[in-house]
Amino acid sequence: MGVATTVGLTGCTGDLQTEASAPSQHPGGSPTPALPVRDLPVGSQASVAIDGRTLLLHRESEDTVRAFSAECTHQGCTVAPDQDRGRPTFACPCHGSHFDVATGVPYGGPAQKPLTEFTATVEDDMVVVRI
Ligand code: FES
Repeated sequence: MGVATTVGLTGCTGDLQTEASAPSQHPGGSPTPALPVRDLPVGSQASVAIDGRTLLLHRESEDTVRAFSAECTHQGCTVAPDQDRGRPTFACPCHGSHFDVATGVPYGGPAQKPLTEFTATVEDDMVVVRI
């Protein structure tokens, strides 16, 4: 875990889509351990499978982790951590949408809506997601 995979990036423009609104928020649920914090250094991203879902994690700081559904808001392909011109991104292999790792907002490609966000916390030595 914690390793970005290489995916196709065709069709990306790098421009923010003005139609994007604030990320939608998952209503929350049971706190579920997702990943040891040592496996998600500050500034890194990871893809994890929890309870049949694939989630994308981004560690903003020592105490702040963002978690998003990996289901692309365009047509449902699985989005994964990647690099876009030297910066981290969440990229969709199907039609090239990219999503900001801190907000889930799409840029480039056909996706218009942000990834669904889940509440994530750092508790003891674990990243915990309410799913
Ligand atoms: S399904 Fe992700 S860009 Fe089309």
